[in-house]
Amino acid sequence: MNNIQALLARRSPGYALEQAFYTDPDVFQNDLEAIHYQAWLFAVPACELEKSGSYVTYTIGAYRIAIVKGADNQIRAFHNSCRHRGSVICTAAKGHAPKLVCPYHQWTYELDGSLLWARDMGPNFDPKQHGLKTVHCRELAGLVYICLADEAPDFEAFSATVESYLSPHDLANSKVAYESSIVEKGNWKLVWENNRECYHCGGNHPSLCRTFPDDPAAIGNDNEGTASILSAHVEKCEAVGAPSQFTISEDSEWRLVRMPLLGSTESYTMDGKVAVHKPNSSFPFKDAGALLKYHYPSTWNHFMSDHTLVFRVTPISATETEVTTKWLVHKDAVEGVDYDIKRLTEVWVATNEEDRVVVEANQMGINSPAYQPGPYSPTQEAGVSQFVDWYCATLSKQWADKAIAAE
Ligand code: FES
Ligand SMILES: [Fe+2]
Repeated sequence: MNNIQALLARRSPGYALEQAFYTDPDVFQNDLEAIHYQAWLFAVPACELEKSGSYVTYTIGAYRIAIVKGADNQIRAFHNSCRHRGSVICTAAKGHAPKLVCPYHQWTYELDGSLLWARDMGPNFDPKQHGLKTVHCRELAGLVYICLADEAPDFEAFSATVESYLSPHDLANSKVAYESSIVEKGNWKLVWENNRECYHCGGNHPSLCRTFPDDPAAIGNDNEGTASILSAHVEKCEAVGAPSQFTISEDSEWRLVRMPLLGSTESYTMDGKVAVHKPNSSFPFKDAGALLKYHYPSTWNHFMSDHTLVFRVTPISATETEVTTKWLVHKDAVEGVDYDIKRLTEVWVATNEEDRVVVEANQMGINSPAYQPGPYSPTQEAGVSQFVDWYCATLSKQWADKAIAAE
């Protein structure tokens, strides 16, 4: 039994994880290999790749990925490493190029990854053997997902559910109105644990608490989704054809539920009214609440009647995590006319900063030799407990699969 298996074996369910899970570089490397390099990961909203030749790059652990819209308008993902001597090809965070040209010796690739041109490589050189290596890539209701595994896990149940739940939300005709990326000095699991409870909301999120209900039953964080306040909202939204019921995958890797916002509020603004007057949804009413979607280990999203928020979690080291937030509005919504950027973003800019502070304080306390894992609140932290159970089950399954493969 190695160190990580020993850590898993002595874990007490219902209690926070012990220190090494949040600080040990070996555990972090194992997290990358067992989880992030295996799972489907949300990368970017598809609307960021506007036209043929648009690309965005994304770094996850040791991997560098380029996501590219082809001449056929299909979105593909490639390892951003030249098939000559390995240079990074797309060096910017995003851009537009008719062909992908390596900056080192100008090997030139088509937008579908095939090698078009390489100078002076001799008569026996076969360009067909030197196309860019592909990464699994799926566009799903306006969200681009990638998977680094050789064989990607099943995506069908998730994608069918998401297609249906997102049907009222027109992400294909949306644009990024604003984005922020912050690095939190905390392990990626602490970022998630903080996300999966609102026990901390009342004490830390004055702006968010104007509209976000911190009752775990109202937001499906009791892992049941049966509370009457939630059922009434679900019924109202389903009556207009918007799938809304609490649904969770068997292994709890993903969940969707459309929850009501507080009182009659409509969106995450300081006054609770919509932020965008040209909505990117087809709801016939403004108080459609928020469709909450999470998908471990990379993303949580909120889809309101007027705009959408997508969050992406990227682990950087055992004690650093990048959190990227994008605010999506209808592509024809005009800033200054249909929405005001400060009004649209101020609640979650503040909330992200407040979350950064609590996550960093959590990490600092865990770093102490005196840290001892404490119990989760059964009413408030069922979501945290469920996340940690999913994490431990995923690691255990990896060990079991490896053992079978080695037999
Ligand atoms: S490394 Fe890309 S062309 Fe040489
Ligand atoms: Fe928070």
